[in-house]
Amino acid sequence: MKIVGGKALQGSVEVSGAKNAALPVLVSAILANGPCTFERVPDLMDIRTLAKLLANMGMKVDFDRAANRAVLDPTSIHSQEAPYELVKTMRASVFVLGPLVAKYGQAKVSLPGGCAIGARPINYHLTGLEKLGAEIQLEEGYVLARAKRLVGNRVAFEYPSVGATENILMAAVLAKGESILENCAKEPEIVDLARALRAMGAHIEGEGTETIRVQGRDTLGSCAHQVIGDRIEAGTFLSAGFATGGAVRVNGIDSEFLEPVLVKFEEAGALIERGKEFIALQSRGRPKATDVTTLPHPGFPTDMQAQFMAAMTIADGASVITETVFENRFMHVPELTRLGSDITVRGKSAIVKGKLKLKGAPVMATDLRASASLIIAGLCAEGETTVSRIYHLDRGYERMETKLRALGADVERVSES
Ligand code: EPU
Repeated sequence: MKIVGGKALQGSVEVSGAKNAALPVLVSAILANGPCTFERVPDLMDIRTLAKLLANMGMKVDFDRAANRAVLDPTSIHSQEAPYELVKTMRASVFVLGPLVAKYGQAKVSLPGGCAIGARPINYHLTGLEKLGAEIQLEEGYVLARAKRLVGNRVAFEYPSVGATENILMAAVLAKGESILENCAKEPEIVDLARALRAMGAHIEGEGTETIRVQGRDTLGSCAHQVIGDRIEAGTFLSAGFATGGAVRVNGIDSEFLEPVLVKFEEAGALIERGKEFIALQSRGRPKATDVTTLPHPGFPTDMQAQFMAAMTIADGASVITETVFENRFMHVPELTRLGSDITVRGKSAIVKGKLKLKGAPVMATDLRASASLIIAGLCAEGETTVSRIYHLDRGYERMETKLRALGADVERVSES
C-alpha cells in the first residue's frame, strides 16, 4: 500500500460485518439441520479460508461475495476433519471442533500451532470439551475428539477466552441436559453467536455476561441471521481520523460495542458522538498522550492496541500502552520507529513519546492489526510510506483502500514486484 501522508481524513464510511463474529457464526451452521442464510458476511481472506474448510467437509457453501450473503447447507457433510493445510493458515478453524463432536460424535482437527502474536494454545477448548464428556486424544498433530453424546456440565474457564467460550457454547447447545459456562468471554461477538444459535432453536441465557446457561437440544433447525458490524474496523477508521486531525463518522455500528475505546479517544481529546447505528469522531488538534491497558471485554480490546498506539506516536506527551492478552503483540513497534516514532518496549508495556511529526518510509506488516497501525502512521507521516505484505490486511479488512480514499486519503495498492 502506497500512502502519501499529511491529509486530515474527513467523511463517513460504512462498516462491514465483523470478521470475528462471522467466523464462529458460519461454523455454527454445522449444528443446523437445514440451509442457513447469513447476511453481512464480510468478503475477507479469512472468510474464504473458512468457506474452503467447510466445503472440504461436504458442507454446501454458497457465498455471494458481492451481496455479502452466505447460504450454508450442512445436510451434505460427510467428513469431520479439518486438515493441517487449512488450519495452519487460520486459527479460527479450531471452532469446528465443538460443533462436529456435538453433532457427529467425532472430530479430527489439526492443532493450529503458534502464531505471530503469541503461542495461542487451545487447552481451554479441550478441557471444556472433556467436561462435556468428550474423549480427547492428540495424535500426529491432530486433536481427535469422540463422544457418543455430549452431556451438559459445569464448565469454568480459567480465563475468559473468546474462542474457547464460542467453541464450548456451540458444543453445549446439542449436549444432553444443562450446561453452565462460567468465566465466559463477554465480547459482542459471543452475543452475536448466541443470537444465531438461538435462531436455530438453541436454548441459551446469559450471553454477554460471565455465566451462560444452555439447555441442550436433540436437534436444531435452520436459521437466517445478520452478522453485527465490525467494532475493530470501526475503531481503526476512527483512529485514522483522530491521528490525522480529521473528522470521521462510521455507520452501521452500535457505539456500545466500542465504548472502551471511545472513552480513550475522549481522554486523548477527541469529541465523540454516539449512536445505535453510528459513531462520529471529531479531533480537536493534536491528541493528548493517554495510557491504555488491553483486557478482555469490556476492557480495551487487544485488537485496537496497535491502531491506538499509532495515534499516540504523534501525541502531546508520553503514553504507556500495556498489552496483557497476547505475549508478543508489539511487532509493529520497530516498524513505527522506522517512521520516526519514539517507542521503547519494557516487558508488557510500550512507552510512546509523542513526536510532532513522522516521516514516510518503507515498512513491513507483520500481522493484521499491525498492518492497520502502519497505515494509520503512514497517513500521519510527511511524504510517502509504503507498507509491504499487506496480505495480512486482507485477512480482516474489506476494501480498506477504497474506504480510506472515500475519506480523502491518498492511498494506492501497488504490486510488490
Ligand atoms: N489462551 C490459552 N488457551 C486457550 C485459549 C486461549 O492460553 O485455550 C490464551 C491465548 O493464548 C491468549 C488469551 O488466552 O493469550 C486470549 O485468547 P482468546 O482465546 O480470547 O483469543 P482467540 O479466541 O484466539 C479472538 C480473536 C482475536 C482477538 C482475541 C482477543 C477471533 C477469530 N479471533 O482470538 O482476533 O485478538 O479473541 O480478543 O475471534 C484479530 O482479529 O486480529 C484477532 C487476533
